[in-house]
Amino acid sequence: MNRGIFISFEGIDGAGKSSHVQAVADAFAQAQRQVVLTREPGGTPLAEKLRDMVLHDSMDPLSEVLLMFAARRDHLQQVIEPALARGDVVVCDRFTDATFAYQGAGRGFDLNVLRQLELWVQALPSGGLRQPDLTLWFSLDPAIAAERLSNARVPDRFEAQPAAFFAKVHQGYSDRLQADSKRFARIDASASLEQVREQVMHVLHQRLNLQTPS
Ligand code: TYD
Repeated sequence: MNRGIFISFEGIDGAGKSSHVQAVADAFAQAQRQVVLTREPGGTPLAEKLRDMVLHDSMDPLSEVLLMFAARRDHLQQVIEPALARGDVVVCDRFTDATFAYQGAGRGFDLNVLRQLELWVQALPSGGLRQPDLTLWFSLDPAIAAERLSNARVPDRFEAQPAAFFAKVHQGYSDRLQADSKRFARIDASASLEQVREQVMHVLHQRLNLQTPS
């Protein structure tokens, strides 16, 4: 049986990661792998309800953090862990790095509390901590991301934040990469769509030995 693989996608709003999430799922499906394409916050009926609240209702930073981790707990238990146990590939649009970047670096929430919650929520019965096998960080200058976002639909609570917030979130991702550089691959998201796609496929080939169509 294949070993389960957990891949997460990260980056500030406007970095353009979402266009590539489906392409990665398709590439694994073409390689005859079962793929679960999912997202955070969300991915289960309960977590999607929590997503709606956290993206649209105003709340204090601790409530925001607790809802993110509550959604994550349900998502892990209902979707991610069963899929990995079956040997599937889990392609997840955002995971815990987003909490460290947005709630931690962006909002200034206590990183030690986030680390504690991460330990509780992602603990494995066998010991250790569930983390993605590979995290693709779509890295983009916050000023360019803001420009891309300005043409987008009605912004949610995060997309409506000022440029200074996204500069801090960007730094938060950079700090997470420094702390766990083996798990991360930094994608230069300022390149063209096609060049970004090539970078992504190159990483999948190098890190996970995925044979991708050229
Ligand atoms: P996003 O992937 O941008 O969804 P969409 O492309 O549909 O807008 O995710 C929604 C927002 O949630 C995004 O602005 C980042 C935020 N977020 C956090 O603040 N903390 C988290 O832990 C997660 C998972 C997301």
